[in-house]
Amino acid sequence: IHLSKATFTISAPDIRRLPEDSGIEVAFAGRSNAGKSSALNTLTNQKSLARTSKTPGRTQLINVFEIAENKRLVDLPGYGFAKVPLEMKKKWQKALGEYLEKRESLKGLVVLMDIRHPLKDLDLDLIEWAAESDLPVLCLLTKADKLSQGKRSAEVLKIKKTLAQLNADIKVQAFSSLKRTGAEQANNVICNWFAA
Ligand code: GTP
Ligand code: MG
Repeated sequence: IHLSKATFTISAPDIRRLPEDSGIEVAFAGRSNAGKSSALNTLTNQKSLARTSKTPGRTQLINVFEIAENKRLVDLPGYGFAKVPLEMKKKWQKALGEYLEKRESLKGLVVLMDIRHPLKDLDLDLIEWAAESDLPVLCLLTKADKLSQGKRSAEVLKIKKTLAQLNADIKVQAFSSLKRTGAEQANNVICNWFAA
């Protein structure tokens, strides 16, 4: 499996519009602006596969990318961003919740958090839900280039300790789309999920 084979499949406003629910999907979730779309581009080695933006709330649809037959990466709408009309927010959060709850082919969840603002309430809710659902999680601590090496390691350690208490399959990795930090490790975890 090579993530660089990714091609855009569809942008869906809700789960009914997604491809058939079979095979293996790995989804990218996290707060708005955490760096989900950037990480997807880094991991697939494609500059503009997923649309990135300085404006939080850019990804409002469920975007699907096919890696191989019946293997897909999914860019989910970000959560936790206040500055959108409530009706719109409700709609995407509903799509996100439905996707997570109902999608049978979801076999691994990449949770992206800005390394400077990790483990907010909604992040923890999501990670705890995945742990209870026996869904493996890879936490990517994004924008690691914004911290010194020392602070970065300290933060990774702290987050690993906190999440170890959940006794679940949760991996934690510092990540930078800018510098490709952690890209190889993340690629290996995701490819293992696809190989299962
Ligand atoms: P939504 O689609 O709005 O939920 O956001 P997102 O999580 O997809 O974030 P996106 O990838 O669009 O990135 C948000 C901003 O963070 C952009 O300005 C990116 O350039 C910046 N960014 C993302 N990853 C990194 C990184 O590793 N380092 C630095 N310095 N900036 C990053
Ligand atoms: Mg995005």
